[in-house]
Amino acid sequence: MRTHQGSAGARVLAFGGYQPARVVTNDELAASVETSDEWIRSRVGIASRRLAGPDETVADMAVAAAGKALAGSGLSPADIDLVIVATCTPEVMIPNTAAIVARRLGIGAPGAYDLNAACAGFCYALAAANDAVRAGSARHVLVIGAEKLSQWVDWTDRSTCIIFADGAGAAVVGPAEAEEPEAGIGPVVWGSDGDMADKICIKDRNSFIFQEGQAVFRWATTALHPIAKQACAEAGVDPTELAVFVPHQANLRIIEALARKIGAPQAKVASDIVTAGNTSSASIPLALSRMIERGELGSGDKALLIGFGAGVCYAAQVITLP
Ligand code: UT7
Repeated sequence: MRTHQGSAGARVLAFGGYQPARVVTNDELAASVETSDEWIRSRVGIASRRLAGPDETVADMAVAAAGKALAGSGLSPADIDLVIVATCTPEVMIPNTAAIVARRLGIGAPGAYDLNAACAGFCYALAAANDAVRAGSARHVLVIGAEKLSQWVDWTDRSTCIIFADGAGAAVVGPAEAEEPEAGIGPVVWGSDGDMADKICIKDRNSFIFQEGQAVFRWATTALHPIAKQACAEAGVDPTELAVFVPHQANLRIIEALARKIGAPQAKVASDIVTAGNTSSASIPLALSRMIERGELGSGDKALLIGFGAGVCYAAQVITLP
C-alpha cells in the first residue's frame, strides 16, 4: 500500500507510441470490398492504416508503447504506482489488460485498471491520472490507450472496415513542481450522452462494430468545439496560445472542421489518421508521440486534446508538452 503527499499539479513526463508492422493500403481493401482509394481519401482522409498480426495482442501493443514512454521519462518501473489502460477492445474481459501490462514491464504491485470510454478513453484516463497524482493516491502513473479494433471489424462491411485500425500510445504522468502547477495537465471538460448509445456500438458478443456514420459526423462537427473551447478557458489558455490541436483521429473532415471552429489558426493540427487510421483510444497519444518524434513539437508547447466516440463520451483538456 502506498500513500503520497499529493501535489499541486501533475504533468506528462513523456509520450510513447507503437504501430504494428503491417501496412494496409486503400487499394488492398478495394480488392476485397467495393470501395476505392479516392473514396476513402476524400471521405475519411485515410491513405493507409496499420493492423496487428494475428497473434499480436492489445497488451503486446500497450507494452511496446508504454516501454517507450517509460524510457523517455527517465523513471524506472519501480517508480510507477498506477497503470491505467484505456481500451474498448481488450483481449478478454477478465483479467484486465493493465495488470498484465504492468507485470510485463516489471512494475511491481501497482494499482491497475482498464477504462472504457471508447475513443475518448485516453483523455478520460489522463484526467484520472491527473486527479490521482494531485490527490496523492499515486505519484507516477502510466496512462495507455491501446486497441486491436481489427478483431471487432466485419471485413466485408465497407462502411467500417476502411476506418478502424490497431495501435497504442502511452504517457507517463507525474507531479508538477509546486511553483508551476499550471504547467501540467489542465482541468478536464468531459461528458456523455446515452441517448446516442446506439449510434456506435457492438450490439452483442457475436457482432462487429456498427456506426451510424452520418449521425456521429453531425454530432462531432456541431457539439464538440464548445467543449474544446471550454477546456481552453478552464486551463486559462487562449486558443491563440495553442501550439497544437490533437483531436481523436476519427475522420480528417471532422478534424479540419473542429480545427476551424476552435479559433486557433496558428496551431498545428494532428492528422495522424492519414497513415494510422482510426485507432480509438490510442489515436491521441499515438499522434502526439509521432509528432514529437518528428521534431514538430517542442517542450513547453501547449496542446489541446479532445477525445470523442461511442457512448457517446467525450473529454478535452489542455496539456503542456514534456
Ligand atoms: O471514432 C469514433 C467516432 N466516429 C466518427 O467520428 C465517425 C463519423 N462519421 C464518419 O466519419 C463518416 O460518416 C463515415 C466516414 C463513416 C462515412 O462517410 P459519409 O460521407 O458520411 O458517407 P455515408 O455513410 O453518408 O455514405 C455515402 C455513400 C453511401 O452510398 P449511397 O447510399 O449514397 O449510394 C454509402 O453506401 O457512400 C457509400 N459508402 C461507400 N462507398 C465507397 C459507404 N462506405 C463506402 C466505402 N466506399 N468504403
